Amino acid sequence: MTLTTRVVVARSFGPADVLTIEEHPSPTLPPGTVRVAVRAAGLNPVDARRRAGSFGGRPPLVFGSEFAGIVVESAHPSWHRGEEVIGWSAQGADADLVVADGERLARRPEGIDWMLAGGLSGVGNTALTALTDLDLPTGSLIVVHGASGGVGTALVQLAVARGLHVIGTTSPANEEYVRTLGAAAVQYGPGIAERISDAAAGRHIDASIDLAGTAEAGDVSVAVTRDGGKAITLVPETMSSHGIRLVQTRPSAAGIRELAEAIRSGALTLPVEPVSFTDIVEAHRRLDAKHARGKLVLDLADNPHLTAFPTGE
Ligand SMILES: NC(=O)c1ccc[n+]([C@@H]2O[C@H](COP(=O)([O-])OP(=O)(O)OC[C@H]3O[C@@H](n4cnc5c(N)ncnc54)[C@H](OP(=O)(O)O)[C@@H]3O)[C@@H](O)[C@H]2O)c1
Repeated sequence: MTLTTRVVVARSFGPADVLTIEEHPSPTLPPGTVRVAVRAAGLNPVDARRRAGSFGGRPPLVFGSEFAGIVVESAHPSWHRGEEVIGWSAQGADADLVVADGERLARRPEGIDWMLAGGLSGVGNTALTALTDLDLPTGSLIVVHGASGGVGTALVQLAVARGLHVIGTTSPANEEYVRTLGAAAVQYGPGIAERISDAAAGRHIDASIDLAGTAEAGDVSVAVTRDGGKAITLVPETMSSHGIRLVQTRPSAAGIRELAEAIRSGALTLPVEPVSFTDIVEAHRRLDAKHARGKLVLDLADNPHLTAFPTGE
């Protein structure tokens, strides 16, 4: 029997309102894959870049790489119908049904509700990747550019839990929020280098992590390396403009387990804002604005393929 699925599609590059929801047959399962009924799908800035055409590819485009849901059919020996999973690096997870690589799945950890599960990998695994890459000793001082966003929220807290000291750059609106994450908050904008220097209060800055991609974040990163520190960027802009080393996220099931443990222990709190699946255009407008606090996650509570399964939180 062919199953049909709603899918978010862009038939041309452009602003958020090029997005529509279409109904399509779900493809047959290649070996090693599983079909998942999506309960929650994390939204990421890269989705907006792809839609706008700044990330290559050719329309029609589908969206969404991370999700949480229930396996409805499996062509992978490790996964079975009815299992609750978190997935990453998928194509077209902003949908009722996604066909996912069985090697890019983790079991949904106990105590991680659906919305958090849908948005955990993108921000959490990226934060872990950055910290693992830098491999800094306890007591090191780091600067995080864009500390109040999804990745920044995870990164600051995980860094603090590892005994690092963090200076987080932010807009005035999120200054207090960044402090609650455990960082010294510094406003971005003209004069940022002096404010960071004041916040460092004479201590050596061991690393700069750029999540913002601005010229001033690039300048600060270059200055940190000049003084013997490390610098990485998660965004292509400051790799191009300042030659900062670009780090790509390395999602893993082990990372999901580590993040779940950090959440259970209270070391990590990720604010998640659910957005109804049919509000996808508005959600992309929010991504375009680049001032999210925490994480936007598509809520597919009305997914008809979930009705066969109990999906309590
Ligand atoms: N390389 C990878 O594998 C990888 C993986 C995941 C994400 N990323 C990238 O990492 C970046 C951050 O992702 P995210 O999910 O955290 O995004 P997000 O939730 O949209 O957060 C972006 C943050 O940037 C801040 N910001 C906006 N303008 C700024 C400026 N001029 N200077 C400093 N900060 C500014 C905003 O803070 P205010 O609201 O306080 O202004 C906002 O909190 C995105 O570009 C994303 O594509 C890369």
